[in-house]
Amino acid sequence: MLSFSLFRPLAMVAFVAGGVVCSEFHARAATVDADFHLYAYSLDSTRGELQGLPVFYGDGKAYAGTAAPAGVSETYNVTLRATTSNTTFTATPDNGTLPSQAHFYIDTTTPSSFGDVGFTSSSTNSTQNITGFGLYGAWAFHVGSADDIQMDWYVEETDTEGTWAIKWNNVGSPVSSGVPVALRTQAPGVKGK
Ligand SMILES: *[C@@H]1O[C@H](CO)[C@@H](O)[C@H](O)[C@H]1NC(C)=O
Ligand SMILES: *[C@@H]1O[C@H](CO)[C@@H](O)[C@H](O)[C@H]1NC(C)=O
Ligand SMILES: *[C@@H]1O[C@H](CO)[C@@H](O)[C@H](O)[C@H]1NC(C)=O
Ligand SMILES: *[C@@H]1O[C@H](CO)[C@@H](O)[C@H](O)[C@H]1NC(C)=O
Ligand SMILES: *[C@@H]1O[C@H](CO)[C@@H](O)[C@H](O)[C@H]1NC(C)=O
Repeated sequence: MLSFSLFRPLAMVAFVAGGVVCSEFHARAATVDADFHLYAYSLDSTRGELQGLPVFYGDGKAYAGTAAPAGVSETYNVTLRATTSNTTFTATPDNGTLPSQAHFYIDTTTPSSFGDVGFTSSSTNSTQNITGFGLYGAWAFHVGSADDIQMDWYVEETDTEGTWAIKWNNVGSPVSSGVPVALRTQAPGVKGK
């Protein structure tokens, strides 16, 4: 189902970007606050359902799709804000109320498996990294310990068809139980960006 050719273009983007972006990121990050939505895209053209699925909040985890996954009670479309003062993505529900400081996080502490991706009000939970996020153009990344640009986003199927759980691949190579995706600020069907 998943072939290496899926992974490689993304890895190349990350690699090519890595050499030039950091200085640009630091410079850009200091200029303006940005509000955005995220959408999940797969490079696999047979996965038409993964061409710009909106990223949403579901009981503290991040999902892509439109329907609440089974067993998840509280779902919100969220607007994320990247600020000039730090490298967090802060979530505000488009509708309703969440904790005022809902930080987007990834769990990078699970070597050789997927880590959770979600939203937390805690800035101290050691398994939830809320810092190091940025946008390279329209592409969301997390900066690694060597200032390298990482875009190791994956999605995994949920029990609800068309709704996917967003994951962070800590393995460093393709994982066949998921689908590599890009998380972009660009909504589907809009040309020119
Ligand atoms: C998010 O917004 C889209 C478009 O309005 C809607 O179809 C979807 O159900 C919403 N998702 C949630 C979790 O509210
Ligand atoms: C990041 O900056 C925003 C805006 O200044 C602020 O609301 C938020 O609390 C900051 N987050 C952290 C973890 O410092
Ligand atoms: C979002 O707002 C609409 C319109 O006000 C309302 O019908 C809907 O129930 C709200 N959804 C949530 C999850 O609060
Ligand atoms: C820390 O985060 C993990 C993973 O999201 C979660 O299971 C755990 O309950 C959190 N711990 C606290 C004290 O919030
Ligand atoms: C989160 O990631 C950033 C960027 O890689 C890193 O500098 C920071 O130490 C990490 N924080 C935690 C709590 O792991």
